Formats: sequence, C-alpha cells, structure tokens
Amino acid sequence: VRTGRCVVAVDGPSGSGKSTVSRRLASALDARYLDTGAMYRAITWAVLRAGVDPKDAEAVVKVAGEVDLAIGVEPDATWVSADGVGIDQEIRGPEVTGAVSAVSAVPAVRELLVAMQRGIISAAERIVVEGRDIGSVVAPDADLKVYLTASADARAQRRSAEYATDVNTTAADLARRDRLDSTRSADPLQQASDAVVLDTTAMNIEQVVARLRDLLDGKVDA
Ligand code: DC
Repeated sequence: VRTGRCVVAVDGPSGSGKSTVSRRLASALDARYLDTGAMYRAITWAVLRAGVDPKDAEAVVKVAGEVDLAIGVEPDATWVSADGVGIDQEIRGPEVTGAVSAVSAVPAVRELLVAMQRGIISAAERIVVEGRDIGSVVAPDADLKVYLTASADARAQRRSAEYATDVNTTAADLARRDRLDSTRSADPLQQASDAVVLDTTAMNIEQVVARLRDLLDGKVDA
C-alpha cells in the first residue's frame, strides 16, 4: 500500500483516454482526482450564461473573477458547480465545448484557475490531476508526469462514444480544438520534457492504468 504524498500529472489531447485513466488510477491509489478541463468548462458555462462573447477577453476575465466555482475531487463522485448550481451535464454540451478553447486561451483565466488547482493539490495527500499543462505549469514537481496520446481516429471514436455524438463531427471538433489548444500563446498543450509518453491507440483502459501503476511503483517509494 502506497503511503505519503503523491501527485500524478496526466496531460494530453482530448480523447487520449486521460479522463477515464486518471479517474481509475485515482481510485486504485485511493487518491483524489482533479479534472482541470471541467474547471475551464465551468468558467465557459458562466461566460455563456452571462451573455458574454467568449472572445471578449476583458469581459471573460470579469466573469471568471466573479463566479464562485467549486469542484469535487472524489474519483467516483465528481461534480462541478458555479454559484452553487450543479452544471455537470451543461459543461459537456456543444455550446460549452465550442467556446472553451477561446476562454482557456485568456492568460488571466489561466492564472486564476492554476492558483486554484495548486491549492487543491497541496490540500490533498495523494491526487491525480489531468489537463493540458499539469506537468509543465501547474505541478512541475509531480512525482509522475504522463503524456497520453492516441491516433486522431482513435481519439475521435472514443470521444464520440463517450459523448454520443457523430464520429465525423467529433473528429472535426477535436482537430479544431487540438489546433487552438496547442497554438495558443498562454500555456499551450505541451509535453513536459520529463513526462513519460504513452501512445494508447492500441491499449485498453486497464492496460494503461496498469502501466501507470508500474511506473509509479518504480518511481515513488511505497
Ligand atoms: O479535457 P477537456 O476537453 O474537458 O478540456 C476542455 C478544454 O479546456 C480544452 O479544450 C483545453 C482546456 N484546458 C486547458 O486549457 N488547460 C487544462 N489544464 C485543461 C483543459
């Protein structure tokens, strides 16, 4: 049984298997789980609710500063709320998904959320954190940094199964978000230089989780 502090950073593009893998790994380690994408999505939901243009950075920052964002970190019972309203379903809808890249490109929004993420991480004994900039920016001293990838086809198929959407539309949306998320100037999606890269195209969830547990056993004292 693992004891002591342990932070695992899981980064990668949409559909790489990050969410399912991170959640299962957290359960297996009896750790907390932080979905940072859900936080960017929640801010985006608040922006849209306020009738603000997601490309109007100044107005977006104002909304982000005012909204009371809260997120649950139990891997088997995640939730997210804005001003006390549960928005788990809403943040997965097409409106939020279409606007989240613009909102997450705003540097002041990132600063705000990174600070909140670091607070959640330091309050947890053990935690698996998933996102785009975890190993590079949020938790550069994580015990294990993983960068999950998969072919564009595999990612589109996984996402369309997960969200019950058409595979071609999903593929186009993923390609668009990948491009926006990796080319933005503030903390773009990137591989930390010391991250373990895992291509999950031909792996199932169990195999990926098992691999990460092995890596962790080798890297962190039990
Ligand atoms: O993982 P996801 O699809 O729920 O993430 C939603 C968006 O949030 C994604 O398009 C990029 C952004 N994001 C980010 O910029 N930084 C993170 N740490 C997590 C997500």
